[in-house]
Amino acid sequence: SPLISRTQKDLRGQIAEWRGSGDRISFVPTMGALHEGHLTLIRLARKKAERVVVSIFVNPTQFAPGEDLEAYPRTEAADTEKLAAEGVDLIYIPYPDSMYDVHHATTVKVGGVAQGLETDHRPTFFDGVSLVVTKLFNRVQPDSAVFGEKDYQQLATIRRLVEDLDMPIKIIGAPIARDEYGLALSSRNQYFDEDGLTIARRLNKIMFACAEEMEGGRNVDRAAEDAAKALLEAGFSNVDYVETRSKNSLTVLEGGVLNAPSRLLIAAHCKGVRLIDNCAVNAK
Ligand code: PAJ
Repeated sequence: SPLISRTQKDLRGQIAEWRGSGDRISFVPTMGALHEGHLTLIRLARKKAERVVVSIFVNPTQFAPGEDLEAYPRTEAADTEKLAAEGVDLIYIPYPDSMYDVHHATTVKVGGVAQGLETDHRPTFFDGVSLVVTKLFNRVQPDSAVFGEKDYQQLATIRRLVEDLDMPIKIIGAPIARDEYGLALSSRNQYFDEDGLTIARRLNKIMFACAEEMEGGRNVDRAAEDAAKALLEAGFSNVDYVETRSKNSLTVLEGGVLNAPSRLLIAAHCKGVRLIDNCAVNAK
C-alpha cells in the first residue's frame, strides 16, 4: 500500500531517497473525492515514471467566498483505497494549516491564458490554483505532472506558469473521462439529484453538436449563441460562457472564423451546480 506523508519533512525524505536511486517522479495533484477521471491521470503518470505521487488537498485559496469550500466532499479513506489499488507510491496529504502561513504574502498571477473564460466568473480562481500548484511543485519536485483536459484553461495556465518560471517539470495533459452518457466526471457530480443528472448529461450532447456545426463551416459565434440557448432550453439555469478559442493560447477567433485548431469551452449552471466541459474543434 502507498506511503502517506503529511509533513514536508517526511515527503522530502522519501523523494530524496527515490531520486538518489535514479527513480523519476510523476505527480498528480488533486483535491480528493477521487473518481475514475482522477484514476486515468494516475495511470498516465504511471507510464511516465518509476514513482507516482498523488496529493490530496482542498485548497482554500481557489475557492471564493460563497463557493463550496466547506461542502466540498472529503473522502480520505475511500481515496486512499483507490490509490492503493492503482499502485500509487506516495500520497501527500498536507495538514491544512501547513500550506498557508499566517504571514503568507506572495501571489502567483498568470496573465494571457488565465484571463477571460473562467476568470470572468471566478476572478481569483487561477491565482489560487497557480499559487498552490507552485507550492506543491516545490514540495514534491517532480519530473512530470499530469493535469486533466477537463479543466482545460487550468491545464493551459499551468503550462504557461511552468514555462514562464523555468520550472523543470514536464506537464502532461490527460483526455476527459466521461460517464456512459458523456457527462464529464467531476467530484461535484455527486451534488446532483436524478433530475439534475439528466439535465447535466445534455451538456456534452449540445457541446459536441455545436462543435460539429463549427467544423462544418458555421460561424463559431453564431453556433455558440445557439448552443447557449439550447442549454437554457435543456434546463440549465444560467450559462456563464460558450466560447471557441485557439487550442493553445486560448485567443479569440477573429470574426468567428475557425482558422486555427481550436477548443470549444462551456460553463453553465444546473440545479445550483456549476459544470464545465470542452472539446476539440478543427476545421475540416
Ligand atoms: P481536482 O478537481 O481534484 O482535479 C484534479 C485533476 O483531475 C485535475 O487535473 C483535473 O483536470 C483532473 N480531472 C478531474 N475530472 C476529470 C475528468 N473527468 N477527466 C480528466 N481529468 C479530470 O483541479 C484540481 O483538483 C485543483 O484545481 C488542483 C489542480 C489540485 C489545485 O488545487
